[in-house]
Amino acid sequence: MTDAAHGRNDAIRARPLGYALGAEIEGVDMSRPPAPDELAALRDLWGEHHVIVLRTDGLDPAGILRFAGAFGDLDPHDATPAYRHKDFPELLQITNREVDGKPSETRNTGRNWHSDYSYTGRPAGGSILYCDTRPSVGGDTMFANMVRAYETLSPKLREIVDGLEAVYDISLTAGIGERDPAKTAEVKRLNPPIAHPAVRVHPHTGKRALYVSERVSHFDGMTPAESRPLIDFLCAHATRPENVYRHQWRRGDLVCWDNRSVMHMALADFDQREPRHMLRATLLGEPSGRVVAAA
Ligand code: SIN
Repeated sequence: MTDAAHGRNDAIRARPLGYALGAEIEGVDMSRPPAPDELAALRDLWGEHHVIVLRTDGLDPAGILRFAGAFGDLDPHDATPAYRHKDFPELLQITNREVDGKPSETRNTGRNWHSDYSYTGRPAGGSILYCDTRPSVGGDTMFANMVRAYETLSPKLREIVDGLEAVYDISLTAGIGERDPAKTAEVKRLNPPIAHPAVRVHPHTGKRALYVSERVSHFDGMTPAESRPLIDFLCAHATRPENVYRHQWRRGDLVCWDNRSVMHMALADFDQREPRHMLRATLLGEPSGRVVAAA
């Protein structure tokens, strides 16, 4: 059913999953690419809820890419080539299964609060994560609404963060120290520290969102010691329980989040002997930031 005035499909509905963000989407036929009216409805609901969840009966890599690619250009993951799916470079493999007979490099991906590819000059727009295999319990992912985080700061602090640039450093990615040293050296060489505005304006909704995470080393022009209390405060403020949605995965879930308005963290709250296997497509975001010297 299409709303003629807006060219939008009214059969697609959202059921909120969290107070601050997150909604389950019903009424989408995942066996084919979304039609233009369906895409318009999905974009609107994604913008409104920041994180949208589609329950599928199972998708193969081509099916994930078909859905993700409908929203825009996909990132070829050149910033982290070592973690790509070997047959589908537009998919990152986030897995604790062995890869080529060795412990997976991505088994602890995402263990601190972050926004995808914030350590690059082209931070991710949307991320679309598919759950192929989940542990019997746990392995959840948490999401924080960074628009709300910004709007609930005092006017004076908003004014201060509006004027700051946050320096992102890939070395602060959780678990990076346990990865293969040669591959780690390569991703660090590809991604030197970069300063982004600490508040970003969303290109579609026009909303301002805090853009500070646990991967920020300091604010440009301030020392790490001066910056630390403010980084810690802003992260704690943004991730207060009332600002967070925690997703408990089901096999076949496709969870889409907007990295310009959300940060997220993957939890290690599961038995690591059980497989957790996820595939992520990443939408290209807007170019941003400038490379700076390390702190
Ligand atoms: C990520 O940070 O993109 C991975 C999230 C997850 O595995 O839950």
